[in-house]
Amino acid sequence: MKERLTIAMPKGRIFIEAVELLKKAGYDLPPEFDESRKLILDIEQAGLRFILAKPVDVPTYVEHGVADVGIAGKDVLLEEEREVYEVLDLKISECYLAVAGLPDAKKRGVASKVATKYPHVASSYFREQGEQVEIIKLNGSIELAPLIGLADRIVDIVSTGRTLKENGLVELEQIVPITSRLIVNPASYRLKDQMIDELVNKLSAVIEGGKGQ
Ligand code: PRP
Repeated sequence: MKERLTIAMPKGRIFIEAVELLKKAGYDLPPEFDESRKLILDIEQAGLRFILAKPVDVPTYVEHGVADVGIAGKDVLLEEEREVYEVLDLKISECYLAVAGLPDAKKRGVASKVATKYPHVASSYFREQGEQVEIIKLNGSIELAPLIGLADRIVDIVSTGRTLKENGLVELEQIVPITSRLIVNPASYRLKDQMIDELVNKLSAVIEGGKGQ
């Protein structure tokens, strides 16, 4: 039987750009790929199986080896710290992690509360800054927290900056730039090295070729 490579894809924002990248790399993905609600899609002739996961779960599937490779945001990788190899910067879904708040949010001190989807990244950041804060974990719509008085600042992804602006929030500090990465399960890297190298080489060629465009 032909060897098969299982790729964990993040549903949502990154998905469209990731599919585009794979198509440019020469992977012949069927048209229903964009619209399907199926969570497992097999592309028999290419020997590929795609699993569609919540972005934050992609490193988990790859760490456990049920997916050989995956596409994950650097934000998720920093937060999750999974045992996976990060082999390629795909240079898609560019954004950054930042501290934001209401324009008068510079109230620092023991009472400072920070809401975030990234408790691990946020606590390391404030520890490095020598600032003591209380971290409040939320799962989405983070910008709501300062508006409603749950926190005085947030740590969140900024892409266009529109969400901050439309909610009257300002960026206070940038933490780290973010792009999506190709990650690999260490055992798969040994056992399916040819298929993985081929994927990495094809994707690299598109990324390199896209420079300066
Ligand atoms: C992300 C992020 C910000 C927003 C930033 O949220 O958490 O809220 O996008 O994008 P912008 O700078 O272009 O406005 P997402 O839409 O992923 O949803 P969430 O609120 O569930 O986290």
